[in-house]
Amino acid sequence: MKRWNIAITGFGAIGKAVAQIIREREQHYRELYAADIRIVAVCGSRAGLIDHDGLPWGTDSALPLQPGVTGAGFIEGSHANVLIEAGPTNFETGGSGYTYIRQALSQGMHAISISKGALVFDYAGLADLAKANGVQLKISGATSAALPTIDLLQYNLAGCQVLEVEGILTATTNFVLSKMMDGMSFDDAVAEAKRLGIAEPDPRFDVEGWDTACKVNILANAGFGARLKLQDIPRDGIDQISPADIQRWKAEGVVPKLIGRIQNDGGNTKASVELKTYPLDHPFSQVTARMKAIRVNTDVMGEITAIGVTSPLATAAAALKDFEHLLMAAHR
Ligand SMILES: NC(=O)c1ccc[n+]([C@@H]2O[C@H](COP(=O)([O-])OP(=O)(O)OC[C@H]3O[C@@H](n4cnc5c(N)ncnc54)[C@H](OP(=O)(O)O)[C@@H]3O)[C@@H](O)[C@H]2O)c1
Repeated sequence: MKRWNIAITGFGAIGKAVAQIIREREQHYRELYAADIRIVAVCGSRAGLIDHDGLPWGTDSALPLQPGVTGAGFIEGSHANVLIEAGPTNFETGGSGYTYIRQALSQGMHAISISKGALVFDYAGLADLAKANGVQLKISGATSAALPTIDLLQYNLAGCQVLEVEGILTATTNFVLSKMMDGMSFDDAVAEAKRLGIAEPDPRFDVEGWDTACKVNILANAGFGARLKLQDIPRDGIDQISPADIQRWKAEGVVPKLIGRIQNDGGNTKASVELKTYPLDHPFSQVTARMKAIRVNTDVMGEITAIGVTSPLATAAAALKDFEHLLMAAHR
């Protein structure tokens, strides 16, 4: 039985959902991969807990977090071999996630990032660091989570050239646009998305198009080997849409969507975030409320479209798909 020690940085909605699923799947991991999985360390911004034998979960999953067990020294003190990073997204500096992921990879830990900041800030640097230390950097949680995106590009569509990616990559903007087309106000729709736990902690990150821009940035750099910066990506938002826009789209029989697009033209990769409208019979028009979608156009495998729903639990499950891929590779 191989022991796997997991550290989780960022213990909010998603970090807790990750811990919940790991605990529910302990037996599954034992039986399928002969793996003894322990969560040995968790931390938030001010407090955390480390127990090298595995954290003492109560029946209500509340943990006695200790002040100061966070930040510099947390990763080293955790003695973990996998980091799951679920802290805030700061794409300007990489934020605390960048520090945690760098430390983890440097120490020979695998890193699974759900937050996007570090990956937008320096995906290439982190990927190089992972390679130099013989470990994996996994990013499904940061690239639309439950919707398969990076795995499509890196694994499923290997063997052909991907020419274009177009996706409804942010659940909040799709939810808000869908609700506005149903007659709800922008503010009420954003509040509802927050209540459902699908919006970012600061919903401006979603509605101004930053979330989609971060995702296409990471996908372009990780999936196509591009070197795009966030400022290279023209970006629309949905925060300036007026009631008159909604009326016009309804009269025209079209559906608005905030789209992340990547075009790959012989090694020249471009990305953008665009507010577009689609006719009612387009597949994207059926992608409503809490759903996301991706359409990939290839040279020889034709066009592939995937559509899925989202939730905090689904995001956590996507990060654990990455973890399960690590278990599979080690068990071969
Ligand atoms: N919600 C979703 O559906 C979704 C989907 C995909 C990706 N994500 C990404 O997942 C990440 C977490 O989202 P969330 O919804 O779980 O947010 P959240 O509930 O606000 O949780 C964020 C957590 O990060 C912690 N944190 C802040 N600064 C920290 C630091 N310096 N060191 C360690 N922890 C720190 C916070 O600690 P305190 O409680 O002490 O402040 C909190 O526990 C975000 O980057 C988000 O973009 C979310």
